[in-house]
Parts: sequence; structure tokens; C-alpha cells
Amino acid sequence: MTTLTGLTVLVALLGCALSAMPISDIKRCQYTGMDGHMYDLSPLIKGDGYYSFSVQAYEIDSYNIYSPKGSEADPLTYQYYLNVCRNVTKPPDACKTTAPILVVNPDGTCTALGNINAAIFDANPGADGVYLSYYHGDPSGGSRVFHYQSSVFFVCDNSTEMSGPMFEHQSNCYHSHFRILTKHACK
Ligand SMILES: *[C@@H]1O[C@H](CO)[C@@H](O)[C@H](O)[C@H]1NC(C)=O
Ligand SMILES: *[C@@H]1O[C@H](CO)[C@@H](O)[C@H](O)[C@H]1NC(C)=O
Repeated sequence: MTTLTGLTVLVALLGCALSAMPISDIKRCQYTGMDGHMYDLSPLIKGDGYYSFSVQAYEIDSYNIYSPKGSEADPLTYQYYLNVCRNVTKPPDACKTTAPILVVNPDGTCTALGNINAAIFDANPGADGVYLSYYHGDPSGGSRVFHYQSSVFFVCDNSTEMSGPMFEHQSNCYHSHFRILTKHACK
């Protein structure tokens, strides 16, 4: 009897802990938050290709790229290839291998901004929606320690299936930020 009670309590505790734990499921492209709400971003997966867009950006130093605002330097063109929860299919010729986000740099080289096997969803800080981070991209600056990484912020916009992706900036730690407005990020 006491054993049964102990077990019941344990199961109840486990159930409670599980229900409160966020779940990031990259394969299904879904994120379940602390409150139990599930975001389903799978309609945004490009099953056969990628989202591609070019960005005129200013390279401030070797690893900080900011969007054009606030700089008088000459713009450089970066071409991005991005997928949601999947590798880019048919990567551009400049890239030897694929990744969830690739960028072809102004000098024609290609950089992987993350790895699909090191991807995780998390809740957007403050606002409605989720963000998807891809870690462990190409080594940065010949470093064995630092690798390119990226985050795609899915922001709730009830009026659009999808708008973007937009490049926001590359911050310290070689971390690129992108933004997608979509109704799938709404509760
Ligand atoms: C993604 O691409 C990488 C690099 O080519 C490859 O090693 C990996 O198996 C791919 N993963 C998936 C899930 O497609
Ligand atoms: C989005 O639109 C639907 C109806 O089209 C509505 O039911 C829902 O409350 C809206 N959500 C938000 C976050 O505005």
C-alpha cells in the first residue's frame, strides 16, 4: 500500500514536471511551451528548396555585420539560403555541403550558419511566438572553438502566412539573427 502510494506520488510528480517542460521537436517542426500551447511551424518548411534573399550589409569588422541603418560604409551583398527545421535542399554551387542556413559572402565563399542536428526551439522573449536556433555552423575565423550560429525569430502576425525572412544583424559570437512574420507564431 505504501509502495503504491509512493509510486502514485512519483507518477504524479513526473507527469507534472513533464507537462511544464517545453518540448522542441525539430523533426515535426513544433514547439510546446510551458503553458502547453503548441506552435506548429511545419507549414513553413520548404520541402524542395529554400528561402533565398540578398542583403546589402555593412561589415563593421571581421565578424560584426549590421544591417544598413546607421552606417555610411559601402554596402556589400550577402546572399542567404534558409530553411525552417530542415537543411537547404540544392545548396548553391559555392557551398560544398548543405546546412539549414547558408550565406554566400561578397568574396564568393560560402558559410554554414548552423547545423540541423544542433537545432532547438525556444519561446520568444516577451512577445508571442518562438525562435529557432541553429548551432555549430562552420568554424569562425579559423577557430576550433567558435562556430557560426543563427536564430530565426518567428513573430506573430495574424495577417500573413509568411513574410520574410529578413536578416536583422550578425552580432558577437558570429550569431546571425533573422525574422519571419507569420500567423503560425500566433497563439
Ligand atoms: C544536413 O546536412 C548535413 C551536411 O551535408 C548532413 O550531414 C546531415 O545528415 C543533413 N541532415 C539532415 C537531417 O538532412
Ligand atoms: C487571429 O485571427 C483569428 C481569426 O482569423 C482570430 O480568431 C484570432 O484570435 C487572431 N489571433 C490573434 C493573436 O490576433
